[in-house]
Amino acid sequence: MKNIIVGLSTLIIVGLMVYVASIGKAFQGGEAGKIIEDIKTFKKAEVSQKENTELNSLKDRAGNVSEFKVSQNFKSKCASCHGVDGKGILGPNLFGKTSQEIYTSLIEYKSGRKENPIMRGLLMKIEESELKELADEIGSFKDKVK
Ligand code: HEC
Repeated sequence: MKNIIVGLSTLIIVGLMVYVASIGKAFQGGEAGKIIEDIKTFKKAEVSQKENTELNSLKDRAGNVSEFKVSQNFKSKCASCHGVDGKGILGPNLFGKTSQEIYTSLIEYKSGRKENPIMRGLLMKIEESELKELADEIGSFKDKVK
């Protein structure tokens, strides 16, 4: 009887040792450890990709709450002050003005005939042909709204 109990306990202990060693192996390296590392990096990549998508959609929404599509050029150069739909934030509303009115204003700022340090400084770096394009685009905003 005593022998049987000792034998069983030995078996259980040895079994536990093998079990612990096999778990340990996963963290120490080897095939199981590699798989765990893979899962970790995979999760990280998945999370950062998700974060990126969310960040981008947030960024998009922040500067892109418009009923209609606007050019990247307008978005990056003008929308920060005039709003992505041209309706004005820091700068005045442009929505509803004609392309000609806008172009005339732009040239006046650029030449210094109309004085405004913000608009002048900004327009100095932009060619007149590009201003014409932007003016045409902004002038067409009103036609894009259903
Ligand atoms: C840093 C902010 C800022 C940016 C960026 C900016 N503007 Fe302006 N814009 C202003 C301000 C402020 C005024 C008003 C100036 C004034 O009182 O004469 C203005 C005025 C104007 C006007 C005259 C509007 C009116 O009612 O007379 C036009 C047209 C205009 N901007 C077009 C543009 C275009 C096109 C761009 C992009 C190339 C642009 N703006 C970028 C701040 C900005």
